[in-house]
Amino acid sequence: MSPGDLDQILCGMDIPADPNVLVGVGGVDDAGIYRISEDMALVQTIDYFTPIVDDPRTFGQVAAANSLSDIYAMGGRPITAMNVVCFPAKKMGVETLREILRGGLDTLKEAGVALLGGHSVEDEEPKYGLAVTGIIDPRRILTKAGLRKGDHIILTKPLGTGVISTALKGRTASPAAYEALVKSMRTLNRAASEAALEAGAVACTDVTGFGLLGHMMEMARASAVGIRLDTTRVPLLKDAIKCAGMGMVPGGTRANRSFFGQRVKGQDQIDPVLLDILYDPQTSGGLLIAVPDENERLLFNALACRDITAAASIAMVEGLKEGGGIMLK
Ligand code: CO
Ligand code: CO
Ligand code: CO
Repeated sequence: MSPGDLDQILCGMDIPADPNVLVGVGGVDDAGIYRISEDMALVQTIDYFTPIVDDPRTFGQVAAANSLSDIYAMGGRPITAMNVVCFPAKKMGVETLREILRGGLDTLKEAGVALLGGHSVEDEEPKYGLAVTGIIDPRRILTKAGLRKGDHIILTKPLGTGVISTALKGRTASPAAYEALVKSMRTLNRAASEAALEAGAVACTDVTGFGLLGHMMEMARASAVGIRLDTTRVPLLKDAIKCAGMGMVPGGTRANRSFFGQRVKGQDQIDPVLLDILYDPQTSGGLLIAVPDENERLLFNALACRDITAAASIAMVEGLKEGGGIMLK
């Protein structure tokens, strides 16, 4: 999740300046960054949320992949993590919590991240995620602000986790759609991040709660550019269109549209069902990677080597635009 809301609440407070804070409060990027030496900085992030699937182990796996994602989005390598748990132990039983934590550990093992501890509080509604620390070369940080005219933007995972999980809650998603959803949400953005660095990416972010258009708009704004998005090229999860067409649209979709929509042109030309998916809040979504035109082939080779087959080139940077904007076609 973007720290936008907390930043607003912190606004006006006296936060001491520190030359080693490379990305901090008030920044628009995915994680905070603190320099500890010439060639090393810490990347830190925290994320947690309520269950998105019924199976506790799967929920743990997805929550962990989502928590690690902000580190990968900035080009960092996660090294340690702490569990963050809110749980009604009396109501749901400690065995369910154990399964959630086991799921989180599955993902941390896959990522090669050490679990150092955690903290839990009793809460009516369960919530789980991780506080993660990574390391990064301070000279090679990927932010949202690097877009230049002619750059291509590649999305590495299909969209639609919000509409499909809403359909799951209404018991209307097919087993095949569930499979595809879980497979995508469990997938680490590690390989995509490595490919981005290898191919000389100039900017990157991950697609989460603000949806594709919200996170792309953050890149447009941070870079002060206009972006042309080819909506026909956006990769979609199995049954995403079907679920959105049945009205299985989460509340966050409308919020995203009213927040970002004013700077999105050409919306009336787009199928309203597809438009809903472009604003659909994602859980553990893919990376949006920007590369100069001449590096695009290099990026696709690097992604293909790592079996990231859903990746698609969906947008192009048009040129400078104050405040940023997106044009749909
Ligand atoms: Co986040
Ligand atoms: Co993020
Ligand atoms: Co404690």
